[in-house]
Amino acid sequence: MEHSYKYREIYLKLKQDILSQQYSSHQKLPSKRQLANDQNVSINTVKNAYEQLFAEGYIYTKERQGYFVEALNQLIIQDEQITQPLNTQSIELNSTFQYSFSHMTTDITEFPIDVWSKHVKEAYYQFKNEMSEIPPFKGPFELRQSIAQLISYKRGVVCRPEQIIIGSGTGNLLSTLFQTFASHQKIAIENPGYSRMRQLFISMGQEIINVPLDKKGLSVNHIKSNQPDFIVTTPSHQFPTGTIMPISRRIELLNWVTEHNKFIIEDDYDSEYKYGTDNIPSLYSLDKNDRVIYLGTFSKTLMPSLRISYMILPQQLLYPFDLATHTSITDLSSINAYALHLFIKSGNYEKYIRKMHHIYSEKRECLLKTLKKSFKEDISIYDMKAGLHFLLNIKTNHSYGTIEQKASEKNIELYTLRRFMVDEPPESNQKTLIIGFAKIKLEDIEPAVLKLKEIFNED
Ligand SMILES: Cc1ncc(COP(=O)(O)O)c(C=O)c1O
Repeated sequence: MEHSYKYREIYLKLKQDILSQQYSSHQKLPSKRQLANDQNVSINTVKNAYEQLFAEGYIYTKERQGYFVEALNQLIIQDEQITQPLNTQSIELNSTFQYSFSHMTTDITEFPIDVWSKHVKEAYYQFKNEMSEIPPFKGPFELRQSIAQLISYKRGVVCRPEQIIIGSGTGNLLSTLFQTFASHQKIAIENPGYSRMRQLFISMGQEIINVPLDKKGLSVNHIKSNQPDFIVTTPSHQFPTGTIMPISRRIELLNWVTEHNKFIIEDDYDSEYKYGTDNIPSLYSLDKNDRVIYLGTFSKTLMPSLRISYMILPQQLLYPFDLATHTSITDLSSINAYALHLFIKSGNYEKYIRKMHHIYSEKRECLLKTLKKSFKEDISIYDMKAGLHFLLNIKTNHSYGTIEQKASEKNIELYTLRRFMVDEPPESNQKTLIIGFAKIKLEDIEPAVLKLKEIFNED
């Protein structure tokens, strides 16, 4: 211990002296024996310090003459402030709310972590060879096969595993996809819509067309007058309004992209959960002309921190995609991907979804009832029977800013419609809240709603 501490002390002191030019370039350092005597340490300790400085390029040796200082430029320090301790008042979000109405979270209290861990272990032994290699860019073929089967009967999406690309998030998959195309594309996005995706396309330098919504979903007239190359939409459960796009609008959109040689990106982010209705068929399943890029995710069914999402490409995009990505390395964790494959194959995924469906159904019912009982005619709820959130309109003179600030002061995680709109919504005495019901505990619903109400009772 003594030895390693001494070694480090000598090494750091010499390094500091060289950097601050206490030694001039090419100056000879004391011999190991001399320094060892001066410092009262062993020659080996000095030798280790010199060897580390040599490895890092601070000193060099001349045979039988000893160690010399390298000629180094002085390191420029422009701003002393930068080296000061971190300013912790940054934009890190508070994730420890007392009550959460977030639409982004899932309930993981019933997640069968022991079963999952067993599959992780199995994955390691069953796919040992694959595990030690750079993973295939599109994700493990086995998982692509499992997903193909899963979405065929769940979403009517009939595709070959070769068309599926698995990645660590929808955003990453889209970034990779757009490497396939010329840089400048016109992208139509729903407004209000998934702001993260809008931001992603902006950061890629794409041209954004913000498309307003009508009762059926995104406005086709707006599409016609702007002629986008891609239309990004959430037809099964519009995000965030919850509208389910009727078949008439789906056909209009599909026909438009077919006639104009364009594409739809169907973001089917939370289609697993429906309450009292059957699954709504995907746009992909209606498409007969190879025009839909389908996005799916396990962020809602399992957990967002797993980071496993997938994209299904029309056949015509496969070759350009493979060409554009053939030297890329995937950002997906293979061991988790294989574990997910085993989780699906064993039937444990389906079992978990059934259980969660029941839990979410119960929470949703209870939350709707409690909100109606508590707020009475001050609210109206736009409740499409799908997904993990609904919209709540409330009569209030508070601004969106005040609502958000008060919620945060009361330790409530709450999002309002303005987060998902391009422009600040016009002032009115009605505000729209996005109410997620996945994370909140059943027994917390009553006190959480009471606390929510306080926001609107106060001045
Ligand atoms: C509208 C929407 N699309 C897509 C996703 C999926 O994102 P990811 O698969 O990157 O977690 C989410 C997740 O919350 C979402 O809200």
